[in-house]
Amino acid sequence: MAAKRLSVVVTRRLPPSVEARMAELFDVVRRPDDTPMSREEIVAALPGADILVPTLGERVDAPLLAGSDRLKLVANYGAGVDHIDVASARQRGVLVSNTPGALTDDTADLAIALMLAVLRRMPEGMAQMQEGRWQGWAPDALLGRRLKGLRLGILGMGRIGQAVARRARAFGMEIHYHNRRRLHAALEEPLEARYMESLDRMLGSIDVLSINCPHTPATFHLVNARRLELMRPEAVIVNTSRGEVVDENALTRRLRAGELAGAGLDVFEHGQSVNPRLRALPNVVLTPHMGSATREGRLEMGERLIVNMRTFADGHRPPDLVVPSML
Ligand code: DGY
Repeated sequence: MAAKRLSVVVTRRLPPSVEARMAELFDVVRRPDDTPMSREEIVAALPGADILVPTLGERVDAPLLAGSDRLKLVANYGAGVDHIDVASARQRGVLVSNTPGALTDDTADLAIALMLAVLRRMPEGMAQMQEGRWQGWAPDALLGRRLKGLRLGILGMGRIGQAVARRARAFGMEIHYHNRRRLHAALEEPLEARYMESLDRMLGSIDVLSINCPHTPATFHLVNARRLELMRPEAVIVNTSRGEVVDENALTRRLRAGELAGAGLDVFEHGQSVNPRLRALPNVVLTPHMGSATREGRLEMGERLIVNMRTFADGHRPPDLVVPSML
């Protein structure tokens, strides 16, 4: 007799090939269209599910988890797990997995794109062209900064931070980083990366800050008003991680006051509700959380997701298990 297939609830449409493979392996409940499942729909579906596949928009908290005794795995389609209460899941014996690695290169590419866009004043140049305001070449028009020689401070030197560092080295930037743990010399040396134990000291000495740490209780508002004041007025901030790591109101105030030169932000403290004063600034480049938005990245995320689900279904530990001590 064939083994019983596990039942899976997927909160959003995923790439067609990922959905097709999932349907070959599991009994899948999924959305008919590309709108996220509402919380009520997830609550209603959960008691019949062995595996829940959420994305970053769905909060998987203790009350939601308490609604099912059957659920055994939350297999996140994405790397960040700040929308999942990993500790409560563990207490209930529910495993949590994510898809690290699949979006490293894409997110690092976007971090560099944002740096270039802000430092080379791309939005101002594009606006001149689109609005027909270009007066022709001029020696002092739209002068930006050269990346070569600038000091980059990377906050969070995990996979993505290191990928940003490798790219930035190719542009001739100097790498400084702050991380919970210092990297092994074999990783530091090729990047000529300097470990800064004190985040405050790093912030005071860099030209560009790239935020690449996850959002956890320990990193919420890590870049707060006091720390923003330590940064030099010529410095710029790029955030491709999570908006909650930065105090967005404090950042907006400093940018408006000219106490920071610019920002490139792909993520925002309150999701889609972006501060209108931030949106109005000419020296910011804002993108709609598109760090992992490549066709290749989204397929690789699906591959990792299925590897985790399949391994679990076969009675093994999913390779990308997230445990509270990692956060
Ligand atoms: C993630 O996977 O956490 C990313 O932010 C999605 O782009």
